[in-house]
Amino acid sequence: MSTGQYRPISAVVLAAGEGTRMRSETPKVLHPLCGRPMLLHVIDALVALPLERIVVVVGHGAERVTKTLQEQMASEMPIEFVEQRVQRGTGDAASVALTASSFDGDGEDDLLIVPADTPLLRPETLATLAREHRAADAAATLLTAISDPAGYGRVVRDDAGRVSHVVEQVDADDAELAINEWNTSIYCFRRGLLAPALRRLSPENAQGEYYLTDVVEVLRETGHLVIAAPVADPSEPVGVNDRAQLAAAEAVLRARINDRWMREGVTMTDPAHTYVDASVELEPDARLLPGTILEGRTVVGAGAVIGPDSHLVDTIVGERAAVRQTVARETEIGDDVTCGPFAHLRPGSHIGARAHIGNFVETKNAEIGEGAKVPHLSYVGDAEIGEGANIGAGTITANYDGKEKHRTKVGKGARIGSNTVLVAPVEVGDGAYTGAGSVVNRDVPPGALAKGVPAEIDDGWAARRDDEDE
Ligand code: UD1
Ligand code: CA
Repeated sequence: MSTGQYRPISAVVLAAGEGTRMRSETPKVLHPLCGRPMLLHVIDALVALPLERIVVVVGHGAERVTKTLQEQMASEMPIEFVEQRVQRGTGDAASVALTASSFDGDGEDDLLIVPADTPLLRPETLATLAREHRAADAAATLLTAISDPAGYGRVVRDDAGRVSHVVEQVDADDAELAINEWNTSIYCFRRGLLAPALRRLSPENAQGEYYLTDVVEVLRETGHLVIAAPVADPSEPVGVNDRAQLAAAEAVLRARINDRWMREGVTMTDPAHTYVDASVELEPDARLLPGTILEGRTVVGAGAVIGPDSHLVDTIVGERAAVRQTVARETEIGDDVTCGPFAHLRPGSHIGARAHIGNFVETKNAEIGEGAKVPHLSYVGDAEIGEGANIGAGTITANYDGKEKHRTKVGKGARIGSNTVLVAPVEVGDGAYTGAGSVVNRDVPPGALAKGVPAEIDDGWAARRDDEDE
């Protein structure tokens, strides 16, 4: 008896299917949930286990799937890709997996097989499955769930309660359809017993496919032990096959992410309306107000307040900053900055500590110095604004001459009058001033004043016009 005895264990992920029900150009397993492709969530759960290796069966969109996984996998665990050229069903996919070059020897090891469309799966659940499989010394252990079985394969048991076989919904009769224990498509197999069982499958079923589920019956008929291990939380192994299931699964993941951050000391006024990608980092005492969407490599510092209604992508927010109604991408927002409402910070914006970006301000590729203010209605692009400078309402950097982009530099403590047009390339020196409405197309020395086009006064003009009209 090898009960309880250590056997090496590897994992196979079935990711070759097209995912027809998604009706998408994107392979199903690459659809993101909380910013991370579905398949990566499954891989993340696997790499948390002490596995020998992971074999991924790719097929539909193989190149994209392989590339995405290689780029985004955050683990050194050995991974091998095998291609299932024609998608003949899950049984065929498993057979293809066993051709992986990293599988050799007698097959005296265990194999977790998981589909790539179960993004809510937790490592603890897989570990429990493997433990029960070993404890029973089974040939195959099925992770099953007892809940609404609509759409899933039903687990049929004999009179003694032992697993008999799995029948797909489309192949089931009324009695089988009434069974509420369903197959999650997550299994643990003895590799050496799986291989011969797979060779005995036939595609005689409603879908004309080789069903991995059919190995249950084959193994049992050849005298091997097959057991079912019901999962504690039946919502965990749900499969995502269409957009409605995708949205439902994402909501569960989002709640998990939010719960984790709240436990770590982040305040969320309304977690149901707070959207934090799996890749985001938050520091304690950050506060996220409703309508906050944080994506990619966004980091929010301690004590910062984000929202309401702020959408930050790959943006780093300093401590105690306040970022309300702001859209930002690839931006750094310093400590104690106040930003918004209605600010748009585009890639390459660096907002220095204690600076203020006010309403209807757009920045791009711009360094805003410490304590500088851009309070209202401005465009600051390809620019460097010195410490403590003030940019008057309506000021814009005319950075584009129709052919090339040019830079604007505003010195420390400079005062740019309302509605100034800074025609780049141009430099305004430290402590210099520009008058309201000036068009500055030459450099302004430090401490100087650049005045622009004052309006001419034509006295009595309105009355004269009225006379002419008569
Ligand atoms: C499968 C199970 C069903 C179970 C359900 C749980 C079979 C026959 N049915 O059904 O009992 O209740 O999962 O979610 O196994 N794949 C390949 N190559 C193929 C076909 C599929 O790699 O040729 C992959 C898919 O990419 C997917 C996984 O296998 O990740 C499952 O395939 P899918 O078509 O979603 O199976 P279901 O019909 O959901
Ligand atoms: Ca499925």
